[in-house]
Amino acid sequence: MQKSRLLKILIWHLHFYGLIIALDTRFKCQQGQRISRTTGKCEECPDDQYQPKENDSKQCETCTICSRKSGSAIQSICTKTSDTVCQCRQGFSPREEDSATCKCEVGSGKKMNVPPECRTCENGFYSSKIDSPCLAWTKCKQNKVRFTGNNTSDAVCDEAFDAWTPVATTPGLTEKTFFSIVHTSPSPSPEISSITRKLNPNNKTDKEEVDHRDLGVNLT
Ligand SMILES: *[C@@H]1O[C@H](CO)[C@@H](O)[C@H](O)[C@H]1NC(C)=O
Ligand SMILES: *[C@@H]1O[C@H](CO)[C@@H](O)[C@H](O)[C@H]1NC(C)=O
Ligand SMILES: *[C@@H]1O[C@H](CO)[C@@H](O)[C@H](O)[C@H]1NC(C)=O
Ligand SMILES: *[C@@H]1O[C@H](CO)[C@@H](O)[C@H](O)[C@H]1NC(C)=O
Repeated sequence: MQKSRLLKILIWHLHFYGLIIALDTRFKCQQGQRISRTTGKCEECPDDQYQPKENDSKQCETCTICSRKSGSAIQSICTKTSDTVCQCRQGFSPREEDSATCKCEVGSGKKMNVPPECRTCENGFYSSKIDSPCLAWTKCKQNKVRFTGNNTSDAVCDEAFDAWTPVATTPGLTEKTFFSIVHTSPSPSPEISSITRKLNPNNKTDKEEVDHRDLGVNLT
């Protein structure tokens, strides 16, 4: 009697233990997998997703994207079992711990190349904002320099009006000729076109026109 009871308990324990194992394997998938919503079985994580641990989840995690535009680059690609590892390119510093987005600090200028560059501003230039390019210090008249400027701050002149600015030849009005090279197909050689206009520096539209046109080729 005693012996058979003991056996029964033993068998029951084995069953119980076996059941636990069965439950365990049934509801957990290996790394890199998830439980399928349709079949209830384990399936591989879809593209651009990963699962780093054994898990009973129906979903995998989304791979981190390294923001190239911000200065981040892939150090190692995402696999089914591990997330992407991002790294900030030389000169850039991380915005978050995972370096998925980066920034170009003040004192350094950002160039929007592909990939972007971040370099210390040279002497004579400054960058006072994150992700901004290096700008030239304001030129003060001689002996009017209050602060020469550094890599994060512009120069300060003694009087604001002593800062160098383009001077209009005729008071109030400036006459300016704009040249632009026009490529007209099917003509193989570019044509140069020009317009001359009286510009009123107090007119916002005209001022923007000058700024815009000045980016073109000016042969005067
Ligand atoms: C299981 O996976 C889900 C989704 O990917 C995640 O949120 C959860 O933390 C994971 N659990 C364990 C124990 O790893
Ligand atoms: C800016 O200049 C300071 C000292 O003049 C220097 O310590 C710092 O590293 C410079 N910053 C950058 C971004 O080069
Ligand atoms: C740059 O100049 C500004 C304004 O004078 C000052 O506050 C700042 O500490 C300077 N930075 C460095 C790096 O010298
Ligand atoms: C400013 O310039 C534009 C373009 O030359 C002209 O059409 C406009 O009338 C001017 N506005 C004023 C207030 O003079």
